[in-house]
Amino acid sequence: MTTTLITGANKGLGFETARRLIAAGHTVYVGSRDAERGRRAAEQLGARLVLLDVTDDASVAAAAKTVEAEGGLDVLINNAGIEERAPDGAVIGPAGVTADLMRQVFETNVFGVVRVTNAFLPLLQRSAAPVVVNLSSGLASLARVTAAGTPTYAYPGVAYPASKTAVNMITVQYAKAFPNMRINAVEPGFTATDLNRRTGTQTVEEGAEIIVRMAQVGPDGPTGGYFDAEGTLPW
Ligand SMILES: NC(=O)c1ccc[n+]([C@@H]2O[C@H](COP(=O)([O-])OP(=O)(O)OC[C@H]3O[C@@H](n4cnc5c(N)ncnc54)[C@H](OP(=O)(O)O)[C@@H]3O)[C@@H](O)[C@H]2O)c1
Repeated sequence: MTTTLITGANKGLGFETARRLIAAGHTVYVGSRDAERGRRAAEQLGARLVLLDVTDDASVAAAAKTVEAEGGLDVLINNAGIEERAPDGAVIGPAGVTADLMRQVFETNVFGVVRVTNAFLPLLQRSAAPVVVNLSSGLASLARVTAAGTPTYAYPGVAYPASKTAVNMITVQYAKAFPNMRINAVEPGFTATDLNRRTGTQTVEEGAEIIVRMAQVGPDGPTGGYFDAEGTLPW
């Protein structure tokens, strides 16, 4: 029996990942910062609900306590994430970005990953096959962002891609520190969700593919890697 927690699973890629992993036999905790949105999602999915705001130490600690009391954790999916956008929906580039905006995006996308992972590490350590999946992005790849003539090169944002590059580094360092765990970063691909105001070109079913796959890697599977549905990505 595998127990899995997905942060920010009340909608989007997290919700679809929950649906697929429940179908695969996992007991899934839907992490949601909002009680009502979480309750609705958990009910729809047949999942457990845990209230969890990745930016809040007390909320994360309470969530870890709940999951521990109910039997522990095997798989953690750090999925909750935000992207910076101007009120008109435009991505904010170097001329518009501020330290406050950087801090806000990093608080969720980067510090949130560290906060949640560290809170659940003691539980994961007790699992026979612990797995962590960190939601990165193709925009995290310095190789891709500097490949002239590609859509990734043309993306102007600063805070979001920088935050996901940090997620990649966190993934590598945790994977080395905890060789008994499978810890990988994944790029779901450009997927139509609220994050990008539904401008993504993939469905959530397509986007969740690599998340679901990496959530199910066995003890002989890869660790410290960066993957999309096609294979390994360049850092
Ligand atoms: N969509 C894409 O094209 C794409 C591409 C590459 C990577 N990703 C990554 O995939 C992940 C999921 O994104 P998505 O596209 O599914 O976006 P989404 O539909 O906007 O879902 C984001 C989820 O994160 C939650 N969340 C945000 N801040 C949170 C916080 N402080 N605490 C707990 N939950 C929080 C949201 O909850 P609320 O409903 O309460 O806001 C929501 O459940 C993100 O890490 C994103 O960066 C997405």
